[in-house]
Amino acid sequence: MYKTIFSHIGKYKKQAVLTPVTIIGEVLMEVLIPAVMALIIDNGVDKGNIGYVARMGGLMVLMSVFSLCFGALAARFSAVAAMGFAKNLRSALFRKVQDFSFANVDKFSTASLTTRLTTDVTNIQNAFMMFVRMAFRSPIMLILATVMAVRQNARLSLVFLFAIPVLAFAVFFIISKAHPRFEKMLGQYDKMNGKIQENLIGIRVVKAFAREEHEKKSFEENTAAVRFAQFAAEKLVILNMPIMQLVMYASIVTILYFGGHMAVDGDIATGELSSFIMYVGQILLSLMMLSMLFIMFVISRASLQRVYEVLIEEPSIKDKEGAQASAEDGSIRFENVSFSYFGDMDNLVLDSIDLNIMSGETIGIIGGTGSSKTSLVQLIPRLYDATAGRVIVGGHDVKDYSLETLRDQVAMVLQKNVLFSGTIRDNLRWGDENATDEEIIEACKAACAHDFVMSFPDGYDTDLGQGGVNVSGGQKQRLCIARALLKKPKIIILDDSTSAVDTATDSSIRKAFREKLSETTTIIIAQRISSVKDADRIIVMDGGKITDIGTHEQLMQSSEIYREVYDSQQKGADE
Ligand SMILES: Nc1ncnc2c1ncn2[C@@H]1O[C@H](COP(=O)(O)OP(=O)(O)OP(=O)(O)O)[C@@H](O)[C@H]1O
Ligand SMILES: [Mg+2]
Repeated sequence: MYKTIFSHIGKYKKQAVLTPVTIIGEVLMEVLIPAVMALIIDNGVDKGNIGYVARMGGLMVLMSVFSLCFGALAARFSAVAAMGFAKNLRSALFRKVQDFSFANVDKFSTASLTTRLTTDVTNIQNAFMMFVRMAFRSPIMLILATVMAVRQNARLSLVFLFAIPVLAFAVFFIISKAHPRFEKMLGQYDKMNGKIQENLIGIRVVKAFAREEHEKKSFEENTAAVRFAQFAAEKLVILNMPIMQLVMYASIVTILYFGGHMAVDGDIATGELSSFIMYVGQILLSLMMLSMLFIMFVISRASLQRVYEVLIEEPSIKDKEGAQASAEDGSIRFENVSFSYFGDMDNLVLDSIDLNIMSGETIGIIGGTGSSKTSLVQLIPRLYDATAGRVIVGGHDVKDYSLETLRDQVAMVLQKNVLFSGTIRDNLRWGDENATDEEIIEACKAACAHDFVMSFPDGYDTDLGQGGVNVSGGQKQRLCIARALLKKPKIIILDDSTSAVDTATDSSIRKAFREKLSETTTIIIAQRISSVKDADRIIVMDGGKITDIGTHEQLMQSSEIYREVYDSQQKGADE
């Protein structure tokens, strides 16, 4: 895990290495200063040697300046290394998520992915910065200060034999209890982010249903849960401080007591005693930092784990090695295809589908909500992989194409579609980066979008706003269709893509499709019979199975479901 994550330090390794190097300089200076001070007191002050005091005093000032410079450099290097590391880690995660299939995203949830890319990386960044500074500083300081202290007075150093085990026990206790609590806390963060995302995306719905108060209250509960989890975790961690200080002051008092007696008896020089106490301070301080480091490590381990999970997640849909198949035509064949979102054979949403669609055919799909229409067509551009059976597009198994080739051949207008911030033209160019203005206009004409686009003062340069908020639902659908058309695909799939478009426009879109896209295999999923009536064949779906296939006239004869839907819609229209 650590190797995978820390390999992303990349070119910031230089700073990461320079930090401990400069810190060694800083610590050396800090540890030598008390020794110089002892010399000043014992050889200078006590003997009245002013020249010696001045010389050694100058040396001490110089050492402090060096220590300060090294300290500042170390702080700078560690900050640069940690920020660079966080940047690299975030980009790596983002790139990884871009390669995820729908199934991968379902597994983590978008909210959790958001927390992992933001909060978790920040935790790691902070821990890393602390780590490169402290991981060397504390042990080196601990060792050097102990050596110096023991050299000055071995008997007084015995105090540490009591202090260190107490501290070690306290740190061990805190760490073993804290880790699960931090994991829980991050889980609560996921939930809170989920709530925020859902609400911001659906803010219009919240307003429409006047659910603000309810949502405020429910968010209150989310933040309270985060606070509670945070409190439970931090409660343990803050124990560290008082325990440390208790041990530190108890040690100093003990040393002063015994040391004082020794000084009165003349067993220890005053300078020696005061520098010894400074070493005690340094030793205890480095122990304190070491324990904080351990705790920081525990906090960040939960985050490291979560980031690691994303980094090692294998995209469930990947290009096959050396896949170069290119679609011969726009034919589609389902061979005994079953599908479950969870990849098992118990929760099938599609059950043993056999289907043959010829190139250039226009196919309508009708069926109640939840009858797996979307699930069926999603297998064609390989948004999901079939759980059993084969999907064959243009003469090759979909798995034999590179994803890019396949998705260039199969354009799908999703049921829940989104436009992105940017101009209309920018959005349309998602279909084809190099589309000329003429091609864009042609596609928009086919999708009946040209006229309303031209009615905007800025035409194709109209800014859509985030998520395409500046256009109506029906306008958005038509732009999405135009975007798909620009790909010049062999197969185009419209999943309920004209549901928000009035019937007259719907019918002229279909007319344009018939005239301009007669070569293209077209699959239209719709709720309205009128949208699929003229299709070459219509598929009727029910409960994950194809119940009937045929033309409108044939289905009126043979399919009860179809006839019922038709009758109910006719009645609605007649009334
Ligand atoms: N991402 C998903 N994870 C798990 N189950 C899903 C997922 N998407 C859909 N389902 C389930 O699969 C079944 C078929 O859904 P599907 O979206 O294919 O229906 P549909 O015919 O397109 O319905 P609609 O007309 O409402 O769009 C439903 O029971 C649904 O609960
Ligand atoms: Mg659907």
